[in-house]
Amino acid sequence: MPEHIQRDMSPHSLPDDTDCGLRPQSLDEYIGQKETLANLRVFMAAAQQRHEALDHLLLSGPPGLGKTTLAQLIAAEMGVNLRATSGPAIERPIDLLILLNSLQPYDVLFIDEIHRLSRVVEEILYPVMEDLSFDRILSKGAAAGAVRHKIAPFTLVGATTKGGAISSPLRSRFGILFQLEFYTHDDLAAIVRRSAKLLNIEIDAEGSLEIAKRCRGTPRIANRLIKRVRDFAQVNGDSVITKTVASYALDRLSIDECGLDRLDRLILELLVNRYKGEPVGLSTLAAACQEEPENLEEVYEPYLLAEGFITKTPRGRQAAQRAYEHLKLTITPRSS
Ligand code: ADE
Repeated sequence: MPEHIQRDMSPHSLPDDTDCGLRPQSLDEYIGQKETLANLRVFMAAAQQRHEALDHLLLSGPPGLGKTTLAQLIAAEMGVNLRATSGPAIERPIDLLILLNSLQPYDVLFIDEIHRLSRVVEEILYPVMEDLSFDRILSKGAAAGAVRHKIAPFTLVGATTKGGAISSPLRSRFGILFQLEFYTHDDLAAIVRRSAKLLNIEIDAEGSLEIAKRCRGTPRIANRLIKRVRDFAQVNGDSVITKTVASYALDRLSIDECGLDRLDRLILELLVNRYKGEPVGLSTLAAACQEEPENLEEVYEPYLLAEGFITKTPRGRQAAQRAYEHLKLTITPRSS
């Protein structure tokens, strides 16, 4: 981890760092999210010209699209420290105040899963974000009352997989709102080629495209898959990852040609077969899959929705036409 990055995380809230070595080290190395990056560069340059902290920034989007990476790159590019924590790790108001007090001027404070901040902690953030102040309540003696404290300018970078769960008072205090999108196949293939180089493995254009097509639009998954494909290639004595090598490995991992894994397919099968195409509530579906509703909603659903496998109606989740087409191709007949 670079020296300017410090972590304040409870163990359960550590972000997935498995692709740490493959993460871009500068904005120039960052592939994809072109519009977001172009705008970000303008906002950072303007803040630097004015000798100000970058405005507070909210990054929304499904897991693995690069929210943490972007926060790290912003701090690096602005030449400041990054303090990284997460919503659930800031349990009490005092935890937040200690964090804020420890910041150097212009530092970036990264709060992952910011939608999981408690209400009391969130309310302390409002005046902090608005005018760099917070009130400390003194309840005892002659000095009873509120004492206003000021803190140095800083940038709050909030990240959330549940943009809709951010309260409007909190959302309205962010000056910059970015919604990260699933990556295109071309961008993912470029990420895979870059990672292959860093991992010292040879991959051809079709091999990288195959991984790109099967990684659910997500760089973190692409980087995980290339490591597993490399394992198969190594053990089978393949010196180059071709389409054949990549397909073989991904089939062995039960990742189908659309990038869907077992749980994705189970969700579709339940919606089509058990619930006969009727809308199903999230908790019912989660119980049928033996999964946490949050995992379905924040990790699985966004890709299935974006790719047109399911739709969301006021009465619940429903299989879309593409789910029927997909299952027809991949469903295995039951042996009776
Ligand atoms: N590794 C993971 N995400 C990446 C990205 N967006 N660009 C380059 N390398 C990456």
